[in-house]
Amino acid sequence: MPDAQAKSEDKAKDFFVDVPFETPGFFLKGSAHLDWGMKNRLSRIFNPKDGRTVMLAFDHGYIMGPTSGIERMDLAIPPLIPHVDCLMCTRGALKTCIPPETSKPVVLRSSAGATVLKELSNEVIGVTLEDALRFNAAAVTCQCYVGGPFEKESLANLCHLVNEGNRYGVPTLGVTAVGRELVRDARYLGLAGRVIAELGAHFNKTYYCEPGFDEVVAGTPIPVVIAGGKKLPEADALAMAYKAIDQGAVGVDMGRNIFLAEDPAAMAAAIRAVVHDNLKPDKAFQLYNDLKGKACGCGDSDCCQG
Ligand code: 5RP
Repeated sequence: MPDAQAKSEDKAKDFFVDVPFETPGFFLKGSAHLDWGMKNRLSRIFNPKDGRTVMLAFDHGYIMGPTSGIERMDLAIPPLIPHVDCLMCTRGALKTCIPPETSKPVVLRSSAGATVLKELSNEVIGVTLEDALRFNAAAVTCQCYVGGPFEKESLANLCHLVNEGNRYGVPTLGVTAVGRELVRDARYLGLAGRVIAELGAHFNKTYYCEPGFDEVVAGTPIPVVIAGGKKLPEADALAMAYKAIDQGAVGVDMGRNIFLAEDPAAMAAAIRAVVHDNLKPDKAFQLYNDLKGKACGCGDSDCCQG
């Protein structure tokens, strides 16, 4: 596949990374002109006080089967819910393992049809908007394999979700899904994020990269959150989250680096402190160690007083 550079202009790019993106009338980047329902749903996912979010991703099973750490979603996920702002999962996970009493918003995995046994980019949309609404989804999401073997199909899936979601005020998260043959550098992630935004997605999930993550964010005119990716040592995952936020991401949509941590609840609380309180990585790691093996002190009745 031709690389992003070959398809790009030769002229040096200027992302004006020091110039803030104006958001007149609404707190989220690129969202000022959306209608009430969209804004209301986005305000459930992103905290209007700081415009940030900690999303817990546990949709891995839809392609990977019983992923380590979430072999039993009914046991692994409910204790983490008090520590995060939003859940990202499949409807199957929701209806079998997540108490419907939760007030946390759900970003519903709506792409389907591929597994790790075959070509991952060959997906369809498996969830109707009607069913997403039945699950009270705050947003819907699909993989976008820019440059992948089924690039067109995955981008058509994104357009389908955006078109359907626009009818009902349901935002779409476009996930930058990097195929095995592609490199997670700023040029590629910036290209993918921009394509996803231009096709109408309301927010983008991508990967942290260095150098150039600030330019990935600056060139993507919608809110950007990062995935965690493969499990890292806890201190490294906290540092990655800090750097991403520092360079303009407005949150994380993290799975393995939370639920595979030695103490997942403590890790979620430490990530939360990075995202919402700008806690520096060393302090966040100290917080993680302080909370490890203990109730976290959040005061939530489902957690510390439960
Ligand atoms: C798959 C996804 C996953 O939700 C995503 O990878 C987040 O999980 P992790 O932090 O474990 O990478 O969207 O593309």
